[in-house]
Amino acid sequence: MSTKTRPAASLRRNISFLGRWLRNPKAVGAVVPSGKSLAAAMVAEVDRDAEGAIIELGGGTGNITAALLHAGFPIDDITVIERDPAFHRVIAQRFPEVRVLQGDAVDLRRLLRDAGIGKVKAVVSSLPLLSIPDRICLQIVAEAMAVLDENGVFIQFTYGPASPVSRSILTRLGLHGRRASWVMDNIPPAAVWRYRPHHAAAGIGGPEAEVVETLHKRSA
Ligand SMILES: C[S@@+](CC[C@H](N)C(=O)[O-])C[C@H]1O[C@@H](n2cnc3c(N)ncnc32)[C@H](O)[C@@H]1O
Repeated sequence: MSTKTRPAASLRRNISFLGRWLRNPKAVGAVVPSGKSLAAAMVAEVDRDAEGAIIELGGGTGNITAALLHAGFPIDDITVIERDPAFHRVIAQRFPEVRVLQGDAVDLRRLLRDAGIGKVKAVVSSLPLLSIPDRICLQIVAEAMAVLDENGVFIQFTYGPASPVSRSILTRLGLHGRRASWVMDNIPPAAVWRYRPHHAAAGIGGPEAEVVETLHKRSA
């Protein structure tokens, strides 16, 4: 599968991205798709040697998916979750061989269970966490941490100067975050963050899983 970008196709995707942003700016969270350098910086945080699935959250027009493929990660290891039906169509058409699930990141565990995906080594997120209410953000990050294996990592970019996962959520889930890189040639400039449990063997059954269970019970 070619990961080369043809200018006309790329322009069409950028226009459709802008259109989706105009309809729902908070849900999209950016005016333009992630640039090549940002996508490469995100993908650089994924362990090449470890086994396991790579879950991309909020695939948008597929630029991070393209970078994962370009970096040589096996196509069968990649699963994209995208809530917006129009973006879901864009990625499914751009990468017909990649598994692209239409769904909400808050349902991540169920989505992966239904798709038969087990061991996850990385969750790579383009979700607009800064415009998502704290309660939902907590649920999404908890879901991500609950599906990761013990050495797994949650990778997230932000256009802001600080961690896109708030201190209260990090504390509640027992997570450690650090800025892995700055990407100054992205529009706008961005930073890539990585998060792991303080308690390295947290996995399912760790503090994050308990938070997910509590949230699920409350909303049931
Ligand atoms: C900043 S855009 C992603 C840009 C993407 N990396 C690209 O290059 O096109 C954020 C994406 O997250 C999706 N999204 C927002 N909330 C979501 C959620 N709760 N679950 C799944 N996808 C979500 C939006 O529909 C949008 O496609």
